[in-house]
Amino acid sequence: MQTLVPFHTFSLNSSANALIEVVSSSELVSTLANLKSSPYIILGEGSNTVFLEDYQGTVLKISSKGITFEQSENDFYVTAQAGENWHQLVLWCLQKQIYGLENLALIPGTVGAAPIQNIGAYGVELERFIHQVEYFDLPTGQLKNLSRQACQFAYRESIFKNQLLHSAVITQVTLKLAKDWQSVAHYGELKTLVQPTAKDIFDKVVEVRKNKLPDPQKLGNAGSFFKNPIISTGLFAKLQQNWPAIPSYPVDTSQVKVPAAWLIDSLGFKGKKVGGITCHHSQPLVLTNDGSGTGQELLLLAREIRTKVQQVFSITLENEVRLIDKNGAILL
Ligand code: FAD
Ligand code: EPU
Repeated sequence: MQTLVPFHTFSLNSSANALIEVVSSSELVSTLANLKSSPYIILGEGSNTVFLEDYQGTVLKISSKGITFEQSENDFYVTAQAGENWHQLVLWCLQKQIYGLENLALIPGTVGAAPIQNIGAYGVELERFIHQVEYFDLPTGQLKNLSRQACQFAYRESIFKNQLLHSAVITQVTLKLAKDWQSVAHYGELKTLVQPTAKDIFDKVVEVRKNKLPDPQKLGNAGSFFKNPIISTGLFAKLQQNWPAIPSYPVDTSQVKVPAAWLIDSLGFKGKKVGGITCHHSQPLVLTNDGSGTGQELLLLAREIRTKVQQVFSITLENEVRLIDKNGAILL
């Protein structure tokens, strides 16, 4: 048995039958061939994955490294291997004066996992920079490429969570970053910046994130536990009658996004504990593990939050994190 505590940021006490680290596409192919039909799951840095109990299979940790870039007259094309750390890539680009990724600073995890849920923060989603995603196609055993459009990105969504779930292992990602950089500084605290440089935005994002979000090295967590729900403008108008302060962000003419943190906060869950699991005191969308928490306690608290939100607001929260039980991924 192999402990998984250091391999997922929620750090619940759990293990797998085995953990194999692969550093290249050829190692990936040979490892998959050796596994034959025995169960396995793909893992990056485990910052969006929670192992609720012992997993009865093999964990394949993607650790391939390398960053290269090319340029055209107007753009940089940066290619990073799937196992590179995302924040190190943001830093690497900033140091080379390749700008655009600064709003996405300090998001934990690997480059290969970033397109899966189209990582996003501070007014920017990864999709705007995707040029191409290379993946190993399990059914055919071939390396294939998808353009940005083919990835079917949406809020915390992509083809890799849907049609290609279970059949694609991302091997590298190529980003297209414009030489004519434009700042994006309309989200929250970034509004205080006046004519910011990319470095100003990077610094502010790092500062805000360090203040708001618990550091997984010190307190186990997987970032936002739930997605921000997207609801109809009709339901939103009804909710506003009882809850005039309810915030929203426009999605399209018929839908708005509501901050789940606000819903959870309004119901008084901040600081609520079930055993070693707590609804975080400054960002209630984050559930934390004090080191003694169990998968059952996490499910109890998460389900209590989801049920209460459903009862009071008629909104169904979906988990944003991937939950793994002994047989693999489960829904809340
Ligand atoms: P893992 O948890 O290892 O894997 C996530 C999923 O991707 C799994 O389904 C796994 O099977 C799959 N996967 C991983 N690598 C590959 C691959 N190469 N090919 C195919 N499938 C693969 N997310 C945001 O979007 N915005 C934020 O602001 C943000 N803030 C966070 C803050 C904290 C403190 C934490 C702990 C998490 C935060 N997250 C955020 C979530 C997390 O950082 C992202 O989801 C990240 O992309 C996960 O990367 P990972 O390598 O850790 O993925
Ligand atoms: N809010 C409260 N009470 C709180 C905190 C927040 O009511 O204690 C409300 C406020 O209205 C606030 C709003 O929630 O304006 C939004 O809060 P915040 O800016 O912290 O962002 P979020 O919606 O909670 C999302 C992402 C984060 C990302 C931030 C910044 C999701 C599920 N989460 O959180 O991503 O870092 O925006 O862009 O979309 C993650 O995915 O793991 C993650 C941390």
